[in-house]
Amino acid sequence: MKPTKVTLVYFSATNTGKKGLKAIAQAMGCPVSEIDITAHTFASPTEAFGADELVIFGAPCYGGRIPKAAAERLGTFKGNNTPCVAVITYGNRHYDDSVAELCDMAKQNGFVPVAAAALIGQHTFGQIAVGRPNEDDLKEDAGFGAKILAALEKGISDITDKVPGNRPYKDGGSGGKFRPSTLDKCVSCGLCAKMCSTGAIGPDFRTIDDTKCISCFRCIAVCPMKAKAMVNPAYDEFCVGFNEKLSARRENEYFI
Ligand SMILES: Cc1cc2nc3c(=O)[nH]c(=O)nc-3n(C[C@H](O)[C@H](O)[C@H](O)COP(=O)(O)O)c2cc1C
Ligand code: SF4
Ligand code: SF4
Repeated sequence: MKPTKVTLVYFSATNTGKKGLKAIAQAMGCPVSEIDITAHTFASPTEAFGADELVIFGAPCYGGRIPKAAAERLGTFKGNNTPCVAVITYGNRHYDDSVAELCDMAKQNGFVPVAAAALIGQHTFGQIAVGRPNEDDLKEDAGFGAKILAALEKGISDITDKVPGNRPYKDGGSGGKFRPSTLDKCVSCGLCAKMCSTGAIGPDFRTIDDTKCISCFRCIAVCPMKAKAMVNPAYDEFCVGFNEKLSARRENEYFI
């Protein structure tokens, strides 16, 4: 089959993962639409996808798993024997069980994982895999998109067994311990609070609820004034060792 439509459904806090998804979809030459589930204001879907469509699910890897906030939202999408692609973007450490988890979740909800990928994206913390996905990564993603289309022409087959991962999955997906600060240049526009992935930012746009924040750094990424930032010597110190530990280059992996 050639899909009548491709829909990207993604959680992408610092906008790295969504680049790969777009590159995969664009190579297919089908109409593409996007559903961004990153903000806490995300509204659950009301309709299931059909068997003639393709859905590309995207999420980052947090501690070897899908972030819990992303998993909850992804779990609200339903398919009807709908082919899907499970794409995890990770920050050059490892994706552990997250790709398997995304395939399993999709299957439980009526989708058939016909392909999957573990893509490298710049790490949220420190300076790791800086600038990735780069042009070469996106070319590889486009090649993967073309392969998916060719595979779909031959029929729909579930590739979950080709994806590495433990079951039960390792513990993870909870987020990190770092909390952004708000600098004096904040103009109280409210964008960070609106876009926060968990609704952790208070009505003053400065207070962060420690129990809700997952250190996704989306508020830092979206602030037009660069007024949300990490100002924390303990974070700086952590980054020095972390940058060194994860400096060896890793490659994208595709499962089809
Ligand atoms: C709390 C947290 C945990 C993370 N855990 C991992 C991990 O286990 N392995 C890894 O390689 N990268 C990890 N990362 C890095 C992200 O997977 C990476 O930055 C990814 O590109 C983010 O994608 P996004 O901007 O599309 O959300 C983590 C990032 C955060 C914020
Ligand atoms: S987005 Fe930036 S400028 Fe706007 S309220 Fe948040 S910190 Fe302040
Ligand atoms: S406050 Fe925490 S959870 Fe919200 S966007 Fe910022 S880092 Fe992410």
